[in-house]
Amino acid sequence: MMLYGLLLAASLSTADGFSLSQSCPPSFELVAGNQCKLVSRYDMYDSLQNKGVGGTQTALPERRDGFSPQQIDLGRYLFFDPLLSGNHQQACASCHQPARGFADGKALSSGANGQLGNRSAPSLWNVGFLKKLFWDGRSDTLEQQALIPMLAEHEMANTPAKLLADLQANNHYPALFRQAFNTDRIELPQVATALAAFQSSLVSLNSRYDHYAHGYHQALTEQEIKGMNVFRSFVARCAECHTPPLFTNQQIAVIGTPEPDGMPFDAGAGVKPGWEKLRGGFKVPTLRNIALTAPYMHSGRFATLGEATEFYSKGRGHAVPANEDLLLHWHIWEPKLTAEEVEQITAFLGSLTDQSLTPQTPKRLPSGLALPSELHTELPPNTATSGATE
Ligand code: HEC
Ligand code: HEC
Repeated sequence: MMLYGLLLAASLSTADGFSLSQSCPPSFELVAGNQCKLVSRYDMYDSLQNKGVGGTQTALPERRDGFSPQQIDLGRYLFFDPLLSGNHQQACASCHQPARGFADGKALSSGANGQLGNRSAPSLWNVGFLKKLFWDGRSDTLEQQALIPMLAEHEMANTPAKLLADLQANNHYPALFRQAFNTDRIELPQVATALAAFQSSLVSLNSRYDHYAHGYHQALTEQEIKGMNVFRSFVARCAECHTPPLFTNQQIAVIGTPEPDGMPFDAGAGVKPGWEKLRGGFKVPTLRNIALTAPYMHSGRFATLGEATEFYSKGRGHAVPANEDLLLHWHIWEPKLTAEEVEQITAFLGSLTDQSLTPQTPKRLPSGLALPSELHTELPPNTATSGATE
């Protein structure tokens, strides 16, 4: 057994010890041109326009897919590899951990050199469907987005020259980039494409809620169905912004959540020229896998889903600082939810958990570096399959 282990280790450490997958991740179909296309039951349905807001059987928005299996798999290695940070201490996955819904469980993330960031790490589930990225919507594509944390001083603190030199000098990456991009020279846009390819494979559309939406009534408990009805009601209006099937309408809304004590006011999208009316506005986040990604909001201010839900019931603008005159969204009102309704909504939000397509965390990395220690947590059981299923 021991000898076998040693032999295996020896054979894997040769230059060709890593090779990229030639098949698409589950739920993706390989089509002409070596492209992976997502297959989803939601594609049977009409788009939102024909169904009214908040209907359960609405089509998915356009998405990023069509990457090759090799690009997706290369992106997986890069995503988990601390080689991408300046001091080789931090990977994308350090702050976007599979076991924590691809967030990090912290109110504010801390960077490779320990500096505290100013916002909470969002989940990356279903990020391939999003048209605007970051809490303030300042980035339009996953490719554009991917380079920002790598090069940010308070995050991975790398430089393009160092990143490319590290990859090029590595024993395995040049061959892997050749498999994915048919290239002899690693370039920055390829790194961005591979990361985008991997992230767009993080699809979560098979929760108990989805089984219900596709017509299997017993997938949700009575309590969850009550919560869904409050969520979609014209009193609570949650679904106007957190619109199914992604539970976001992809807009920026000013809702006036509070900052944590001692943190300055975050103007969010309002800092962008031309977006002044969106001062204090943030992207409506998806609520998919929301039970896994506490604490909540851009600042991680709320520890539980109950607290995040109660926020909406405490009065329009109740948390806006006195010296700020924000243009709050008209759907933010005073639904006066009872404690029971808050519990029902919270129960419903728990039915949006589905991690069945969680990708494999690599056991070894092409760089030879160890996986960041924060990734040594076990993935919690998938509540989509442990609950009632079809
Ligand atoms: C230090 C922790 C940290 C690291 C490392 C990190 N991120 Fe993030 N990520 C964040 C935070 C915090 C945000 C939100 C920032 C904001 O909105 O201003 C974010 C936002 C994102 C978003 C936008 C998601 C959305 O819904 O808008 C994507 C995509 C993303 N990160 C991918 C990556 C990739 C790819 C890497 C590696 C190259 C990476 N992140 C590394 C903390 C981190
Ligand atoms: C006007 C649009 C709008 C409505 C209506 C709305 N939300 Fe939100 N929701 C947002 C925005 C924007 C954020 C992010 C705010 C921030 O980070 O400061 C958010 C954040 C959240 C979060 C935290 C998500 C995360 O990833 O941290 C939860 C949970 C949530 N909303 C639940 C609800 C519930 C429940 C209702 C109904 C009672 C509701 N929302 C109604 C726009 C809306």
